Amino acid sequence: MTIERVGVIGAGQMGNGIAHVCALAGYDVVMNDVNGDALTAAVELIGRNMDRQVAREKISQEDRDAAMARISTTGTLAELGQADLVIEAATEREAVKDAIFAELVPHLKPETILTSNTSSISITRLASKTDRPEKFMGFHFMNPVPVMSLVELIRGIATDEETFKACQDVVERLDKTAATAEDFPAFIVNRILMPMINEAVYVLYEGVGNVKSIDKAMKLGTNHPMGPLELADFIGLDTCLAIMNVLHDGLADTKYRPCPLLTKYVEAGWLGRKAGRGFYDYRGDEPVPTR
Ligand code: CAA
Repeated sequence: MTIERVGVIGAGQMGNGIAHVCALAGYDVVMNDVNGDALTAAVELIGRNMDRQVAREKISQEDRDAAMARISTTGTLAELGQADLVIEAATEREAVKDAIFAELVPHLKPETILTSNTSSISITRLASKTDRPEKFMGFHFMNPVPVMSLVELIRGIATDEETFKACQDVVERLDKTAATAEDFPAFIVNRILMPMINEAVYVLYEGVGNVKSIDKAMKLGTNHPMGPLELADFIGLDTCLAIMNVLHDGLADTKYRPCPLLTKYVEAGWLGRKAGRGFYDYRGDEPVPTR
């Protein structure tokens, strides 16, 4: 089947990046969120991010304007009914995703491919609660979506080959590269990345280093573009904790236990950049370490 119209659920940092790259690749994009203000803010942010790409001569002004004109928004899931492909990028909580799929599915065309940008939840389990497990896939983008070239593609146990191939074609049209992962907790990227971030928090918790020395050590010592604590703030500490819990519960191994200090930051509401404070305080001109 040809995919021309893409529905994106969730106007958060992943949803707006996904809408951005889909619109630039020529897809008609319908963005949905329960929060109307979040939709307005997402469209504004996409515009600003595209302006940055125009300024750096990555895209032309005409490309930008045409892409922005291809994005529409709705607060109603039923309006995603004509989409050929739906990418769900709502909050990383299984009950939220289940409720969205339950409300959406009766409005979809039978051939519509349903995907989730989940970074860790079982694709097989999410798919099993819909009417189309064979047309369900994991479609996992990296943050910031317009910059990162990888998309992890995850088949559920029932996903058919046609669905997988159609998603591979979409990744190519987005000018990104797919890595295929089996459906086990946190797939490939987060199975490796999150224990590293969690270990960095243990190193902080045990006083082996402070926020600055840990990030400096990993940036300069391993050539990572961001230190692990800076990256955790960028991803969101609530997301990091949720993924560690999925690894801990799903693989039943104590090596994945979330660091109590990570839990404490999340309980404080210090969720990273989006909250203005995490391992760094972002409320001033320069980020200041909080430990
Ligand atoms: N939209 C469009 N362009 C953007 C952008 C956005 N949202 N954010 C950054 N850019 C562009 C900039 O315009 C710039 O473009 P040029 O190369 O053409 O100049 C480029 O990206 C680099 O940006 P900056 O100069 O502002 O900043 P930087 O050099 O410090 O790079 C970064 C920023 C790309 C985020 C870099 O620090 C980086 O790669 N960090 C690691 C990111 C990472 O690991 N992401 C994966 C997280 S894990 C994940 O996402 C999975 C999960 O499930 C949790």
